[in-house]
Amino acid sequence: MNNISGYGKPNYILAIETSCDETSVAIIKDGKEILSNIVASQIETHKRFGGVVPEVASRKHVETITITTEEAVEEAGIALTDLSAIAVTMGPGLVGALLVGIVAAKALAMALDLPLIGTHHIAGHIYANQLVHEMEYPCMALVVSGGHTELVLLESEGVFRVIGRTRDDAVGEAYDKVARALQFPYPGGPHVDRLAHEAEAAVPLPRSWLEPDSYDFSFSGLKSAVLNVINQTKMRNEELNFAHVARGFQESVIDVLMEKAIRAAKEFEVKQLLLCGGVAANRGLREALTARCAAEGLPLLIPPFALCSDNAAMIGAAAYLKWKRGEFTALDLKGEPTLSLEAWSVQS
Ligand code: KG4
Ligand code: ZN
Repeated sequence: MNNISGYGKPNYILAIETSCDETSVAIIKDGKEILSNIVASQIETHKRFGGVVPEVASRKHVETITITTEEAVEEAGIALTDLSAIAVTMGPGLVGALLVGIVAAKALAMALDLPLIGTHHIAGHIYANQLVHEMEYPCMALVVSGGHTELVLLESEGVFRVIGRTRDDAVGEAYDKVARALQFPYPGGPHVDRLAHEAEAAVPLPRSWLEPDSYDFSFSGLKSAVLNVINQTKMRNEELNFAHVARGFQESVIDVLMEKAIRAAKEFEVKQLLLCGGVAANRGLREALTARCAAEGLPLLIPPFALCSDNAAMIGAAAYLKWKRGEFTALDLKGEPTLSLEAWSVQS
C-alpha cells in the first residue's frame, strides 16, 4: 500500500459515470457507504429515436454534469476538501459520453490536487454488490446489461477473469429489440418483463446452448425466432398474443443464463453468485435465480433495483479497490470504448 496522505482517515471518493445515457455522480465513504448517488437519466430524450443517440448523449452529459456534481456534494454533506480521490468511468462505453465525465473528473482532480482513478464500467456493476453485502472470494458474477453479457470469475478481490461472453447481442440489447418488435418504446426490457408476468402461456422458442462446455452466450438467433413468429402470424392474418411471445422469450433467456451461471458456479466452486447490470432488474430472472440458488444451497447476491442500472455509486465502490492499493491513473487518461475488464484487475 502506498504511503499517501489520507490513509487512516475516512475515505471519500467522488465518482462520476457518463458512459451511456445516465449522468451520475456519487460520494462513497470507505468503499461501502453511499452518502449520495444522483442519477440524471436521459431516457425521455432518447425515447423518440428508439435508442441512445451518441451525439445527443454527450451533449446532455455536458448540460447536466455540473449540477449533478453540485447536488451529489450537497446531499453528501461533506466539503470538497474532505475528498480522498476522484473516480470516473473510463470505459467501456460511448467515447463522446465517456469524455464528458473524464474531463470533469480531471478538472476536479487537478483543482483539488487529488488522485484520479479511471474505473471500468463492468467492474462497477459487479462491485455494486459490495455496497449492500460483503463479497466473498472466489465468486462468480453474471453480468447482464444493455451492452454486456458475461460470466466473470473473481478468484480474489479486484481480479477479474471473463470465462464466458456473448458472441452477438447482449441480453439487454435482445430485450430492447424484441420490445421494439412488440411496439414498446425504448428501453423495452421492463415492458417485456411486465408482459411476461401477465401471460398464462408461452410461445415455444429455442434455447441457444452453444457447445456443451461453453460459457459463451448468443441471443441473436432467439431474437430472429421472435421476429419470425411475429411476421408469420401477420402473414396468416392471425391475432398474436404479445404476452405469450414475451413470456416465451423471457423463459428462453432465463433458462440459458441460469443454467450456465449455476454450472460455472459449481465448476469453479465459488462461495457466492452475483447478479448485476441493468437486466438484473428483471423480475423473472431475479425470482428464478433466487429459487434455483436456494435449492442448490448457493448464496446469491443481487443489488437493489436502483444499483442495477447505471449509477456512479457502483463506480465509487470499484474505484475503492484501486485506492486501497494506491493504484491511481495519470491525468492523460483517455476514454476507452472497448476497455478490457481483465486488464483493469488490481495489480497487488
Ligand atoms: O446496465 P444498464 O443500465 O446499461 C448498460 O450498461 O447497458 O442496462 C440497460 C439495459 C437495457 O437494455 C434495458 O432494457 C435493460 O437493461 N433492462 C431490463 C429490465 N430493466 C432494464 N431488461 C429486462 N428486464 C428488466 N426489468
Ligand atoms: Zn451499465
